Amino acid sequence: MFRHKHHGERILPEHIAIIMDGNGRWAKKRRLPRSAGHAAGARTFKEIARYCNRIGLHYLTVYAFSTENWKRPQEEVDNIMELLRDYLKDAKNFKDENILVKFIGNLAVLPQDIRDLIVDAEENSKDATGLKLNIALNYGGRDEIVAAVRRVVSDGLAPDEVDEAAIADRLYTAGQPDPDFIIRPSGEYRLSNYLIWQSAYAEFWFSDVLWPDFKPHHLEEAIDDFCRRNRRFGGV
Ligand code: IPE
Ligand code: IPE
Ligand code: MG
Repeated sequence: MFRHKHHGERILPEHIAIIMDGNGRWAKKRRLPRSAGHAAGARTFKEIARYCNRIGLHYLTVYAFSTENWKRPQEEVDNIMELLRDYLKDAKNFKDENILVKFIGNLAVLPQDIRDLIVDAEENSKDATGLKLNIALNYGGRDEIVAAVRRVVSDGLAPDEVDEAAIADRLYTAGQPDPDFIIRPSGEYRLSNYLIWQSAYAEFWFSDVLWPDFKPHHLEEAIDDFCRRNRRFGGV
């Protein structure tokens, strides 16, 4: 259950989850529009995903847009969706890079053209054998649990059949190991509704670096820290 991959002397986490935060503040510091921060954040995302693939990480989940992010000004939401379109149109890159991509979240309410691009991207990368990359889009942890419980009910489970596996098997991440390492840059110390079920026993790593400034060496620093943690899972 707690498989680890060796890379040189080091033991990598099995599943890293990142909250890609701080794009707006990065832009503000430079007197740029928030959209420039999101564009820079998208570049960082591509670099970090490629890096994770290269070092042999098994799973990476990134928070791209939350169920709460619809509260932002329409212009900013539109801008983020446009960046997503650009990214997805490039999606043949996943195939070339051998990254298997999957979108998690309530995708049903997204614009139809984005849903079509998502289906194409997932289909194009389905035979990839490298990094498994989850992109959380219109994702909320509570929303995910509610959706899972609805499926428990519609599947007709009896009360004594409802156990942890019955819920976990109906989450977007069904069949995947829980994230063992959650990284949040930008100086915020909260989960913001991210992977709230799956993070029950995750290790956390926080940094003041804003996401567009986050480099592979920051990830290395985080992983080194992870390697020094003593994970007890309630034991001794
Ligand atoms: C993260 O950066 C991107 C999304 C939430 C889509 P922010 O836009 O939240 O950046 P800050 O937190 O305002 O700096
Ligand atoms: C979390 O960041 C969501 C994403 C990174 C996509 P937010 O910037 O939305 O989180 P809060 O509002 O600071 O909690
Ligand atoms: Mg933020």
